[in-house]
Amino acid sequence: IKWTTTKRYQPYTQWPQARLDEIKTRIKQSQWRLGYHIQPTTGLLNDPNGFSYFNGQWHLFYQSFPYGAVHGLKSWVHLVADDLVHWQNLGTALTADSPLDAQGVYSGSAIPVDDQLFLMYTGNVRDQDWVRHPRQNGAWMTADNRIEKLSQLLINEPAPRITEHFRDPQILKHAGMYYALLGAQYDDQTGHVVVYRAPVVTGPWTYQDELTFSTEKLGYMVECPNLVFIDERPVLIFCPQGVAGSVLATDNVYPNAYVIGERFDWDHLAFVNPSPLQNLDDGFDVYATQAFNAPDGRALAVSWIGLPDTTYPSDVEDWANCLSVVKELTLVDGQLRQRPVVENQQLRQASLTMATMTQALPRQSELQVTVPANQQGKLSILTNLDQQTGLVINIDTVHGKMVVDRALAGRPVATDYGTTRAVAIEPGQPLTGQLLLDNSVFELYLNDGQQVLTGRIFPPSQHWALNLDQLTADVQGWRLDTLNK
Ligand code: FRU
Repeated sequence: IKWTTTKRYQPYTQWPQARLDEIKTRIKQSQWRLGYHIQPTTGLLNDPNGFSYFNGQWHLFYQSFPYGAVHGLKSWVHLVADDLVHWQNLGTALTADSPLDAQGVYSGSAIPVDDQLFLMYTGNVRDQDWVRHPRQNGAWMTADNRIEKLSQLLINEPAPRITEHFRDPQILKHAGMYYALLGAQYDDQTGHVVVYRAPVVTGPWTYQDELTFSTEKLGYMVECPNLVFIDERPVLIFCPQGVAGSVLATDNVYPNAYVIGERFDWDHLAFVNPSPLQNLDDGFDVYATQAFNAPDGRALAVSWIGLPDTTYPSDVEDWANCLSVVKELTLVDGQLRQRPVVENQQLRQASLTMATMTQALPRQSELQVTVPANQQGKLSILTNLDQQTGLVINIDTVHGKMVVDRALAGRPVATDYGTTRAVAIEPGQPLTGQLLLDNSVFELYLNDGQQVLTGRIFPPSQHWALNLDQLTADVQGWRLDTLNK
């Protein structure tokens, strides 16, 4: 298929079912499909949307273009779970079938209101000259998961100075009022987060102010803002595009950043004493993380594992990207920690005995690694046993440095942005790591979630091994269950 603009934005009704069947057949041959991560049935997946708890279940949606591994006409696909792990895919929930979202149902969020779930999302609308007019829309979902879009816009009043880049509403409730945070570009090409407020979710929504959370310039656009509270402290997770390296150094095409405040001043919509910007993930492929305060008291997050403007080796199989496992966010001594939710331990099957320096490793596994202080060596996930190459984790607890190298893990991915990612760790201290492996994804949580490195690899072979080179380490492991059949 030649992906012209017309083809990418062709209405779903004009695609034959045969196209999806053909992709599904091709995907069956793939050795990169995932065992327990949420992945697209066909086509491209991007941002998580509408992550919420409603009607006794967890709900999660994702941005989808089902007809190929390109960013085309987007819709929302709906998943539910009782436990944040065993997700059931309920299929497409919102499609671009209205004049208010004709060129795509873009990202948004969800909040339970009475006995329904309210969805707020951006409708991507383009006129005949292909000029974009972003529309902020709403929809109601009933307890039996039936969705009805509102016929009127939620935000009519264009906020001052905002260009066509105005999207990704996150809706939250405070002191009886609803707030919506949106990513916005101003006409001087700067990125911001702006705030609207409404007494009831269906509006009227009125512009309040921009969110104050940093004194730095945040590049030319901010996407996917999410405000969560942890121990009453505000944490903003967002994607600043084009941010200067002096404000936030990143090796990726765009970063997924966060800022922590001492407290949040609701009157001025301002972070009090915000931290500098930090990378949410120090790896290769995390973007558009969505987080919310769950009714059980936890702050939960899920990330898109994939980046905008990036092609992946699975594209030729007509599918791309996946979501991370669900992570719990906490603060320890004022520092953000991210850990896979405890429910994830249900995936653990047989434990792996780590007897030799090199041993077979299931491609869906979890490793808990403790490296003592004063070690310099390598832990490798060998994905090519003939060549003895794979994903290499260089660990130096003498000087306090860890480098993940995917150069020889399989097919090259986004090599223009480098093949390694490095993090500083405490010198002279032991290092602990929790490594989740799933065929073509790794998520590495260091020191109880102080740092996380996530990435894709596209290995050549079915047989993997774990190898320790010059490294003394205590390794425990489990084979992890297959949920995606
Ligand atoms: C981020 C993003 C959002 C937009 C969506 C469209 O990845 O560009 O800003 O709503 O993806 O799929």
